[in-house]
Amino acid sequence: RGRITVPELRARKAQNEKIVMVTAYDYPSALLAERAEVDVVLVGDSVGMTMLGFADVLPVTLEMMLHHVQAVRRGLHRALLLADMPFGSYQIGEEEAMRSAIRLLKEGGAQAVKLEGGALIAGLIKKLTGAGIPVMGHIGLTPQSVHLLGGHRLQGREPEAPERMVADAKALEEAGAFGVVLEMIPADLAAKITASISIPTIGIGAGPACDGQVLVWHDLLAIPPGRPFRHVKQYANIGEQIESALRSYAEEVRRGVFPSKEQSL
Ligand code: KIV
Ligand code: NA
Repeated sequence: RGRITVPELRARKAQNEKIVMVTAYDYPSALLAERAEVDVVLVGDSVGMTMLGFADVLPVTLEMMLHHVQAVRRGLHRALLLADMPFGSYQIGEEEAMRSAIRLLKEGGAQAVKLEGGALIAGLIKKLTGAGIPVMGHIGLTPQSVHLLGGHRLQGREPEAPERMVADAKALEEAGAFGVVLEMIPADLAAKITASISIPTIGIGAGPACDGQVLVWHDLLAIPPGRPFRHVKQYANIGEQIESALRSYAEEVRRGVFPSKEQSL
């Protein structure tokens, strides 16, 4: 099968075929996501937290994103490569936003970009798609607004939220976005949004009605080990396995067991 395309992803909704998305930030992870036949690999600005140890996504720069997008590009063939536009790369003005998005495609090899926001960024999305750049929106919990929102928590519980979020999703669709991430909103609201637009919704902490799902690499693989967020399912305990392998290695070096004759040249 050939490369997954944006029109193909859009068409999945009408065909009732779920879209599978996962984050990845480097070459070996991209290779594995590709082998597992994931549809979309997102180089999220969550890289700041998962890979770089920042407390939130705000410090992530376009240069950091490019570094990781380029590495993921080298590991992908069929899956679509989607890149987050980091905080500060599209908020100052349309010209800067265009330049940032173009760099993610031109230098990073991304096939599409993702921006946080609803109706407020519709104009910008129109410009980007007009330039041939596919855009995915992102509403609900938008981590680049963590200080405004007061934390990484469930969104959309205020009485006026359903109306506002449906309007945001419609504005994104009208502006030409090819999909929208719904993050950390009640399942019934996500279902309502999904039913009100004809572009796919990709949920994370947004229930089963979304047209696709996305999980963060480190969350679904339990790296580092620990209790997951409620919306996460841990499909393996890779963090534990890595720690235990490293302990075995350390112990064998200390006891003089490794290297043995077998590993000696
Ligand atoms: O940065 C990220 O990983 C994301 C997903 C959670 C959607 O934006
Ligand atoms: Na993100």
